[in-house]
Amino acid sequence: MNHKAALHNPIFEIISKSAKALHVDTYVIGGFVRDYLLNRSEKKDIDIVCVGDGIALAREVSKNLPDKPKVQIFKTYGTAMLKYQDADIEFVGARKESYTEDSRNPAVNPGTLEDDQNRRDFTINALALSLNPDTYGDLLDPFNGVEDLKNKCIRTPLDPDITYSDDPLRMLRAIRFAAQLHFTIEDASLKAITKNAHRIDIITKERIVVELNKILESKKPSVGFLILEKTKLLKRILPELTALKGIDEIEGQRHKDNFYHTLEVVDNISENTDNLWLRWAALLHDIGKAPTKKFSKKVGWTFHGHEFEGSKMVFRLFKRLKMPLNDKMKFVQKMVLMSSRPIVLAQDIVTDSAVRRLIFDAGDHVDDLMTLCEADITTKNPKKFKKYRNNFKIVREKIEEVEARDHVRNFQPPISGEEIMKTFDLKPSREIGVIKETIKEAILEGEIPNEHEAAYQLMLKTGEKLGLSSKN
Ligand code: CTP
Repeated sequence: MNHKAALHNPIFEIISKSAKALHVDTYVIGGFVRDYLLNRSEKKDIDIVCVGDGIALAREVSKNLPDKPKVQIFKTYGTAMLKYQDADIEFVGARKESYTEDSRNPAVNPGTLEDDQNRRDFTINALALSLNPDTYGDLLDPFNGVEDLKNKCIRTPLDPDITYSDDPLRMLRAIRFAAQLHFTIEDASLKAITKNAHRIDIITKERIVVELNKILESKKPSVGFLILEKTKLLKRILPELTALKGIDEIEGQRHKDNFYHTLEVVDNISENTDNLWLRWAALLHDIGKAPTKKFSKKVGWTFHGHEFEGSKMVFRLFKRLKMPLNDKMKFVQKMVLMSSRPIVLAQDIVTDSAVRRLIFDAGDHVDDLMTLCEADITTKNPKKFKKYRNNFKIVREKIEEVEARDHVRNFQPPISGEEIMKTFDLKPSREIGVIKETIKEAILEGEIPNEHEAAYQLMLKTGEKLGLSSKN
């Protein structure tokens, strides 16, 4: 079948002409072709394979482009890349490959197009369209990739044991594609992944996280995490999550399975937010429950302080996975630390002062925190579900009302340290902190409004108590 329509981007004509000048057969291959056939939005980045020297082809293409873009060369891989408009165009010479046991770096030998398709990860990623003048737009599909696209199946061109062992990152890619595209991974592949799961250890953390993020960004992330668990990969990558698996029972008292609960929370939150870090927070919100779990006859199962423990674990987990230890990590920590606050609040009469404290502590993230707590409702009892939902609705309304009145969201003390020093003729000292804290507490408790005059009076009163004399 011919697919010239896929090649409307003018770059393809230029590549085709350049390849003709060099007398090499050339094809567009991989994700671009797959996404075109799936009617997904057009993939920006394009992979080109030629039966010859990929680097030479990239140089020729650059020469034929008006702005002569820079060609970036990756010698170890024998590949080259140039930017066209805002897309990355990757060039590689077709090759036969064999990988070594302890590394992802292949030994490269030149090969035919079919050799090259053979060594790719999945049949749906081995599809190629010809850029050669006489067959321009023809589809080359030696492993029935099109059939697999129709059947929504992830299958490897070679024996899956070889494909995954050659490059263990592909195990995560298979699961990521299953999650992104809602495809099923063929049984033989699942078995091979389970068998080779330990080989994920040779993959860099950064690459692992790229795939994890893609799974988390998919519409229903549990799809990916359930396969990660089933194939024993999750235990190697995120043991904090698998530690949540299982239900213990003592004297007839059971707790819920916090692993499956977590996945439900992640799916729920994914319906309401595309914020990757909020999704991470949902994934990690209960990880402190494994190390804090206790049973007592009096109260049954408890997880005291799991939020605090969990937030500390977030740091260690991010560090281990070489994820950024920046404001994103702090955000996830904060969400985990505060994840029970609105729940506790909603169980009782919602007082203004409790809401003020919640807003004060959550700051700009109070809305995200509420989104997390709403996703956390996974009860199957419709009456309870409705009740919890409604309570959170009341909390949200109260947040709006209190914030509009009291402005504690990014709390700025109405009296500055400088004003305190001036009033009492003080040098920097402990008393200033005491006065500031007293004013803040009084505002949060609702004893005084968040206004200068009321705070000024309280400052004078507190100063007096501390034995300070004011200048006026
Ligand atoms: N590929 C592979 N093994 C890998 C990575 C990539 O065989 N570990 C091949 C596949 O043929 C893939 C192509 O290289 O289609 C391009 O890889 P990449 O750009 O990483 O992924 P895409 O499949 O294009 O898809 P996406 O952009 O969604 O990651």
